[in-house]
Amino acid sequence: MGEECGRVSDGGADPRGPVPRPRDAGADPRGPLRHLRDAAAERRAAGLTRHLRARTPDHDGLLDLASNDYLGLSRDQRLINGAIRAARVWGTGATGSRLVTGTTTLHAALEGALAAFAGAPAALVFSSGYLANLAAVTALTTALRSGQRSGRNADPTAGHSMSPVLVVSDGANHASLIDACRLSRARKVVTAHRDVAAVSQALAGRNSESAIVVTDAVFSVTGELAPLAALHRVTREHGALLLVDEAHAFGVVGPRGRGAADAAGLGAEPDVVRTMTLSKALAGQGGAVIGAPEVIETLIDTGRSFIFDTGLAPTCAGAALAALDVLSASPELPGRTRERARRLADIASGLGLDASRPDAAVVSVTLGPPEAAVAAGRLCAEHGVRVACFRPPSVPAGRSCLRLTARPNLTDTDLDTVGRALTAVRDYIMRGAVLGQRGSRP
Ligand SMILES: Cc1ncc(COP(=O)(O)O)c(C=O)c1O
Repeated sequence: MGEECGRVSDGGADPRGPVPRPRDAGADPRGPLRHLRDAAAERRAAGLTRHLRARTPDHDGLLDLASNDYLGLSRDQRLINGAIRAARVWGTGATGSRLVTGTTTLHAALEGALAAFAGAPAALVFSSGYLANLAAVTALTTALRSGQRSGRNADPTAGHSMSPVLVVSDGANHASLIDACRLSRARKVVTAHRDVAAVSQALAGRNSESAIVVTDAVFSVTGELAPLAALHRVTREHGALLLVDEAHAFGVVGPRGRGAADAAGLGAEPDVVRTMTLSKALAGQGGAVIGAPEVIETLIDTGRSFIFDTGLAPTCAGAALAALDVLSASPELPGRTRERARRLADIASGLGLDASRPDAAVVSVTLGPPEAAVAAGRLCAEHGVRVACFRPPSVPAGRSCLRLTARPNLTDTDLDTVGRALTAVRDYIMRGAVLGQRGSRP
């Protein structure tokens, strides 16, 4: 769960989007491509085709509430200049893996700045948040397991067997954490969403010495905070690590946008590992892991998506450094984003729609069936607002929704436009309810 499907068709002219689709089915009548075409036909029949839609620089003239530009910095001249300066000095790419030629003094500066901003001892940047999550979960579980084994060799009376490390993962975690858990050779327990008692039970019942609890800090679709303080009490009590993905929290949650772990008083805890992306509030591209020196050392030595990946592009590092400067110099930005998110939620719930209470920048409006969400997304576009639309498997069946995101520079006029779009959605839902009572669909 947690995979974004904001690419859903918004009812534009060419439903196939700009990417060429196979046309000549006769060219490969018996080859492997036939199976791909058959699988594609099955997806089409199930309504699971996704479309890439090229947008113009001004988001096709629509008010963009679908992106993750949570601080509205993606066009900020200071970030653009940071990227340009980095390209002038370092060129266009990192030129190699971080362990070969890909570590520049710019990377070191960014890692120092991220760690300082987060109040943590160390940080390590990756070329995406996805890769940061893959490395964090796989490398830490593997190293915990071998540490367990060598500890046991040193002390044969040690109580635990060499059973795999346990990973406990919230059922609504982002796809990158789910994939990371799958890639790790850990034993996995998926717990109900935000269920601290279930986490505690899983940790208490384990037969391995080591365990990691992984959770989004702010859940990507619903926008709610994870119960981090309670989770940390439980992980500490059971001697486990807590890994918090701050993708939707960093830059938005907490008094200065230092993230949800910091806001929960866990910023300096050595048994808390934070992962993050540079692509949302920081408006660039890349990811990072923030934590204790032992964690960072483990990732450098063994994180496969660190070792075997080209280092973060200098332009991205330069833009992220500039974004951190802006965030430090403008501590009011995170609070302003949260206030705008609450206003969006108030508008939706004032219209009788089922809107979440936002803890960060994300507001979700649950509509139920996938067709209702797709139609509502299309109506919003017709009324000048681009929103993301989420359907199963990104959300549970019956919980398809629109996802709206706030940023500090949303004006009251913008909010009026959103109000008109959501009024059209509300009218559409009401029409459906009335017709449904008469046994017909809208
Ligand atoms: C919760 C969460 N974690 C990780 C990621 C991946 O980050 P990136 O886009 O930098 O790969 C995302 C991206 O959408 C996310 O929502």
